[in-house]
Amino acid sequence: MDKLKAKFPEKFLWGASSSAFQIEGGWAEGGKGPTVADVNSFKRSHLQADSKVASDFFHHWPEDIALMKEMGLNLYRFSIAWARIMPDGDGEINQAGIDFYNNVINCLLEHGIQPFITLYHFDLPHALVEKYNGWESRECVKAFERYAKVCFEAFGDRVSSWQVHNEQNLMVRVNERVNITTEDSWEADRQRAQMDYHMFLAHALAVKACHSIIPEGKIGPAVSSTCTYPESNQPEDVWAAKLNDWFKTDYCLDMHYYGCYPGYYMRYLEERNIVPIMMPEDEGILKDAKMDFIAVNYYRTLCVSYLPADDKHPVGERAFPINQVDFDQYGYFHHLKNEHLASSEYGAQIDPLGLRTVLNNYYQKYHLPLIVTENGLGTADTLTEDGKVHDDYRIDYLKAHILACSQAIEDGVEMMGYSPWSFMDLLSSHEGFKKRYGFVYINREDHDLKDMSRIKKDSFYWYKRVIETNGEEL
Ligand code: BG6
Repeated sequence: MDKLKAKFPEKFLWGASSSAFQIEGGWAEGGKGPTVADVNSFKRSHLQADSKVASDFFHHWPEDIALMKEMGLNLYRFSIAWARIMPDGDGEINQAGIDFYNNVINCLLEHGIQPFITLYHFDLPHALVEKYNGWESRECVKAFERYAKVCFEAFGDRVSSWQVHNEQNLMVRVNERVNITTEDSWEADRQRAQMDYHMFLAHALAVKACHSIIPEGKIGPAVSSTCTYPESNQPEDVWAAKLNDWFKTDYCLDMHYYGCYPGYYMRYLEERNIVPIMMPEDEGILKDAKMDFIAVNYYRTLCVSYLPADDKHPVGERAFPINQVDFDQYGYFHHLKNEHLASSEYGAQIDPLGLRTVLNNYYQKYHLPLIVTENGLGTADTLTEDGKVHDDYRIDYLKAHILACSQAIEDGVEMMGYSPWSFMDLLSSHEGFKKRYGFVYINREDHDLKDMSRIKKDSFYWYKRVIETNGEEL
């Protein structure tokens, strides 16, 4: 890495992030309905913590926000649980849910912290799955539009910054997150394509509603960013790396920006015979929705080699060659370990320069302001006998990525802020509380709630200083 000194604009937003089902707990309290995220977490309760208590923000929020204030945050990115606002997804509005988020928002503002709200972070109300198979139905789009409007009307007098879906591009590839249960791979891809399309439509409608209800409203998507390296300079490997980025992330940003699928993506949908059902009025809705920024979630880079099409693969059942698109979660191509990079305990390849690349790519292509809303190191932490957590490994990771943001700014990228994952330890999707990301340690284990006390890690004090010096002291 070269020796640029970190430097940030005066109004740069220093934040920290979280999501409802991963921190709140109180899963059936205050009138909240069950969500897809709850149901999935219960299936793994025997292996790890579930969403019933999580970090218990539902009962600890005043204390947690006081810690945010102490750390000096000027932004807190969190999500609203749709099923707290509408327990069955599209019916009665639950006033207790509105009250809960009003309290949180007001407390943040009293402490000088700007709320930055995600409307939907993996926690679709389960009732919508029971009624319509969730996003497969256009009814779900209507339900989301209504939910978004309720939130803008309830909170828009105090909250101007909004994200629509968290990582639609990643979520739609993970069957359990969108409740795809069929074992027939073509049918799974058909449902996925329809769901994805409906989420794009819902996104566009939410953008439009935000702009009409909140005069100063700013809204955009949070994407799971992808930066893929080819294993070699063999043209096929380079092509495979490009396709991996296009099919995992870029098609999604293009769809948000231009309101239509890029050609290579449309070709895939047609060849796989899974073009979603679209209505004539959709084109206008999709093209009119102008996002105000792009939120980037970034953890690691990938490395791929070209995977030759399998001749034995039955033509017809899967006519599209397997080396180009395979919508399984991780397997479009042959994924490899990049020997030039260190890996986290859980296999993420740590690569700050990849963040600089991603920020430059997105800014050069769309010329919209960017904000990082997730970036962090998930690993086990040790609570020492004197009640401390010495997480210098996390500090090293964050320091290098903050420097990458500063370098991207020097490259000319317009950046609004940096909000790493996560403010406090939370329920990680597959490792519960074994894998921790927070600045604040939550004193619990997967199957032992202990005292749920909040303990400031070394990274807490370090980040506080970063904020105080506007990033000059890393
Ligand atoms: C992001 C999600 O993709 O990755 C978060 O938006 C998630 O919800 C984060 O927690 C880290 O992934 P994991 O699997 O370690 O929890």
